[in-house]
Parts: sequence; structure tokens; C-alpha cells
Amino acid sequence: MQVIPRTVLKQKPKLDSSLGFGQYFTDYMFTMKYTKEEGWHDAKIEPNEPVKFDLATTIFHYAQGVFEGMKAFLQPDGSVCVFRPDENWARMNRSCERMCIPQFPAELAEEGLEELLKLEKGWIPSAPGTALYIRPTIVATRVMLGVHASTEYLFFIILSPVGSYYAHGLEPTKLIVESYYARSALGGTGEAKCLGNYAASMKAGEEAEEKGFDQVLWLDSAEKKYVEEVGSMNIFFVIGGEVVTPALVGSILPGITRKSCLQILRDRGYRVSERRISIEEVVAAAENGTLDEAFGTGTAAVISPVGLIRYQGKDYPINGGRMGEITRMLYDTITGIQYGTKEDVYGWRKYIG
Ligand code: COI
Repeated sequence: MQVIPRTVLKQKPKLDSSLGFGQYFTDYMFTMKYTKEEGWHDAKIEPNEPVKFDLATTIFHYAQGVFEGMKAFLQPDGSVCVFRPDENWARMNRSCERMCIPQFPAELAEEGLEELLKLEKGWIPSAPGTALYIRPTIVATRVMLGVHASTEYLFFIILSPVGSYYAHGLEPTKLIVESYYARSALGGTGEAKCLGNYAASMKAGEEAEEKGFDQVLWLDSAEKKYVEEVGSMNIFFVIGGEVVTPALVGSILPGITRKSCLQILRDRGYRVSERRISIEEVVAAAENGTLDEAFGTGTAAVISPVGLIRYQGKDYPINGGRMGEITRMLYDTITGIQYGTKEDVYGWRKYIG
């Protein structure tokens, strides 16, 4: 693959837990372009520098774009692994289908990612809880104001050394149930990882933060009755010994960490269900003492315990605001596989190089 070198490398930040999330970016990026005539072409690695776009470019006006989130981890023997990248490429192509973006060759994206990671290995942090976050993105690049699917696209992968997603690390998060705004509706784009879903969530997110909460817990948009997801993570509850997560009804992102947790739980004999779960059921369980645990799952969020949920002005503390046993088991298992300290029984580690 063609590599365009840069003359001056960036000053690296301290690669430790002070990194925060998504604030620093490495020296290089992978890019490829799409045109109707040539298909996907011009795949290369080039310096990660600001790029110029005409202000009439489709992405700025109609948000025709999709993205993914993955992580690369430094292993104890110095090698590098990515967690389940094939799942991300497959989901990204499903998101493309929903957003009228042409399917991209996953093998070429993977090759680009692997070359990029080999070049940027020095940016992978090794402190506990840190990783190199991978952000593949596709944006519509045709210069045209008509509301039509673009005929040109840019695919890029940028890399960011990260610590934990939440500023408070593994401290349990506080969620507020959103009863007015909607993130997505059935038939909408909720299960695609498209840019607009995140823009749609910001108003509620900002209001939640002003009230001292970390995130919003979204309900279904039609009835405002069933729990859906958190936006940056999927949600699980442990109620009376049963591990429950909302079924993927079409308006919920099919998380890869979610899928991995379900497999681990089922294989270990836990009672697990993917079903509709009403917010009334959750708060009733909190009130009668059967809501044992709640946690979120995601690439950025990993496994994040939930310590409190506010619904209709009332606070429901969960497990005394502490991380529960099942949450801890999943956190240890997933991170053990990712950081190479546990056996990879499922073959989820993809070794680079
Ligand atoms: C991820 O977990 O990778 C996400 O994409 C969620 C969020 C940071 C946008």
C-alpha cells in the first residue's frame, strides 16, 4: 500500500490514563475514495492533517455518513491486537446500506487498518484502561445541494490514544431516563451507526449533563415505555437473577460488546434474555429490591456500571452505587481477552503483523 510520509512527526501526549477520550490523534491516517466511475480506489496511508472541502459538500448539509469504533491493544509480549474487527466492518457495511453509501471492500479496509497500526505502534498506550481507539468513517463528498445520495465518498481511518470514556473512569455512571426527546424511531436510522443519530441525541445529552448526569437512557419513541439504549452504549439489567437487555427491534445499535457479553453470559450458564423491557419494570425492580445490577456496554465505554437511574424526578440507586458481580465478571473477561491476560477462547483477538 502506498504510504505518503510526513516530514515532521507530532509531539506525543503522555500515553497514560490522563489521555481522556478522543483528544489526540496520531501522525497518519488511511484513506480511500469512491466515485461512480472508479468504485473504491486510491487506497493509501497519508499524514493525518486538516483536509480542504468545498462548503457545498453533501456531508455538511445532509449528514450522509457512517462510522465505527474499534480498539487496538498492546499485548504483554509486545504484539498488537484488535478486538473483533470483522464484526465492525460487517456492521459498517450494513450502516452503508441504510445510508445509500456503496458497500466497501472489508478486506481492503482491514489491510489499510493493519498497515496503519504497524506504522503507529508507538502511539498505543500501555497503562491499564488505555488503548488506541480506531475511528473508521465514510462521508459523502459530492459538491451538490440537491437531497440525493452522493456519487462520491471518502473513507478514512484515524487513530486516537485513549483512556476511559467517562472522566470518572470505572465509577458507576448516573443515567437520566429521557421521556420527551427521541433518539430514533422504528423505520428510522437507529440501528445504523450513522452520524445523524449522534447529532439527534445531543440536546438531551446536554440537558442531562447540566443536571449532573453522565448520559441519557433512551426509551422507544412511539410509547416512551420501553428501554432502548444509552447512545454511547447498550444497556443491561440484572433483575432477580435474570440478565436482561433490550431486544434489537430496529431502533437500537447492535453493539459488538453487547453481542460478546451475551455470548459469555450464555456460555457460563446465566439466565439471559433479549426482550422488550419497560422502564416501569426496571423501577419496580429497583423499588422491590430485585434490581441487582445495571451496566452499559460499548467499545468506548467497555463495561460501565450504572449506579443510579432517575425517572420522572425520582432517583433509583442500584447496588448501593457499586459495581455488581456480573458487571465485574464481564469487565474482567472482556478486558482480559482484549489486553491478552486471559485465554482468547472465542478467537476475538486479531493479531496485527
Ligand atoms: C464507540 O463505543 O466506539 C462509539 O462509537 C460510541 C461513542 C464514543 C460515539
